[in-house]
Amino acid sequence: MARCFVTRELPGPALDRLRARHQVDVWPERLPPPDDELRRRTAPAEGLLSLLTDRIDATLMEGSPRLRAIANYAVGYDNIDIGAATARGIAVGNTPDVLTDATADLTFALLLAAARKLPEAAASVTAGDWLTWDPARHLGYDVHGATLGIIGRGRIGQAVGRRAAGFDMTVLYTGRDGGTPLDELLARSDYISIHCPLTPATHHLIDAAALRRMRPSAILINTARGPIVDQAALLEALREGRIAGAALDVTDPEPPPAGDPLLSAPNLIVAPHIGSATHTAREQMATLAVDNLLAALDGEPMPHPVVAD
Ligand code: DGY
Repeated sequence: MARCFVTRELPGPALDRLRARHQVDVWPERLPPPDDELRRRTAPAEGLLSLLTDRIDATLMEGSPRLRAIANYAVGYDNIDIGAATARGIAVGNTPDVLTDATADLTFALLLAAARKLPEAAASVTAGDWLTWDPARHLGYDVHGATLGIIGRGRIGQAVGRRAAGFDMTVLYTGRDGGTPLDELLARSDYISIHCPLTPATHHLIDAAALRRMRPSAILINTARGPIVDQAALLEALREGRIAGAALDVTDPEPPPAGDPLLSAPNLIVAPHIGSATHTAREQMATLAVDNLLAALDGEPMPHPVVAD
């Protein structure tokens, strides 16, 4: 029986399988464990089930000499120092595939909501401002037949592209394996949707220069990771009306601090990182994370290992 630290309660029955085999300490609060608590509780553990809100760095691993396995409850793993884990022989796993469609669905929900100004139109009804059928209010942009530029041709990017086909959209891709050059994609797209991982190469990939390349009628959607977009540059572009709008499921930091000027930017929708937030996806993510931890603690390869770039 190994000691495991799980940094939050998870939906569904998966954690019961872990509890049946190992000694499991689950962080009980709604907010993540503070850094000192994360270190203190991980120190005696052989297995760690972490969330994207937990920073798993080399010093945490140094302070946890028995740690053999880290199962991240996310497909992204930019919160973990993979190099440090590899150097210490700690297996790291993630939860691919099971959240692909949920995240692609949410991407399209944001795209449609931003294009058709759905939040502001719905808010006008709640505010008692629906006076009559109005020929010139709440005018948005066509989605059908428009051009969608997808940054990142991985599982989620491709799933978004499949949905776009149903809207008769022209789809451009750019990614590590080529495709349309980023500058051209930015200039040609009506909608630009980000689906690449956060790495040193993609940090602030969408910066002031990239935003300047976009059309004034373009809408940016980010359901990947906040730091891929230079948020200060985005705020300026929205304020100056240099792009038509943005819809973000991810920000930098998360959540934005109270009073962050981003939250009052015009034509911006911000969702609280809910790309994978369906009952099915989140339960399946728990299943995969527990499968990863159980396998590694049994000395077997994880079924969903992170493959370092
Ligand atoms: C992930 O898995 O990386 C998402 O951001 C959260 O589901």
